Amino acid sequence: MRKKIVAGNWKMNTTVAEGALLAKQICFLAREMETSAEIIVSPPFTHLESVGRILKEEKSHVALAAQNCASTESGAYTGEVSVNMLKELSCKYVILGHSERREYYGETNEILLKKINLVLAAGLHPIYCVGEKLEERESNRHFEVVASQIKEVLYKLRGVELANVVVAYEPVWAIGTGKTATSDQAEEMHAYIRRVIADKFSSYADQTPVLYGGSCKPSNAKELFAMENVDGGLIGGASLIAQDFAAIIKSF
Ligand code: PGA
Repeated sequence: MRKKIVAGNWKMNTTVAEGALLAKQICFLAREMETSAEIIVSPPFTHLESVGRILKEEKSHVALAAQNCASTESGAYTGEVSVNMLKELSCKYVILGHSERREYYGETNEILLKKINLVLAAGLHPIYCVGEKLEERESNRHFEVVASQIKEVLYKLRGVELANVVVAYEPVWAIGTGKTATSDQAEEMHAYIRRVIADKFSSYADQTPVLYGGSCKPSNAKELFAMENVDGGLIGGASLIAQDFAAIIKSF
């Protein structure tokens, strides 16, 4: 049985106070529900300490994720946040390679490999995002693009390390646009991702959770999560409203 995961990516939203309130609401709703899914919240860096404290105080099973980390261990890198700093704040996961990081901050597969290695070495779990842009899908290059994002990064890991990696398929054209991939499109790509992973790591591919991200909301989560190779979601906009986030988790 593969692990099921629903992760909320808050991106650059909420004040510290709003984030604390949202975290409390999520803990409350999580306590009320029966779910086999692991629930993760990923607030901005500045909120990690307070949200992490709330998750502990509320005795919730909600895990904490950071949205990014530095590609170096420590030192003179103004403005960066290291994996060890995140670990100290009880982060269990780090989202890496989100399309917004690739697109606006020039993160390449090469940089992402460095980050993944640091995250794994610290004993944390990367949530590695892959996904094609609209023009890549329209020119029928979506499989090729996603395969190279996997091969240039995950293929460089050892099998035992892969066991600690979560993959998120996020078609760029679906992120924040209200346009969701159909459940068939998602399943087709998720099954493909699993085959590409299996080509290199046959014994681990079946265990790797592959999440879907991109305008996932209460109205479409059930259909997406029903797909054989969709193991949960990486939720942006809808994770900022506790009720919607809870409804998505309950879609399993
Ligand atoms: P969205 O974002 O749910 O707002 O489309 C998903 C993501 O970027 O992780």
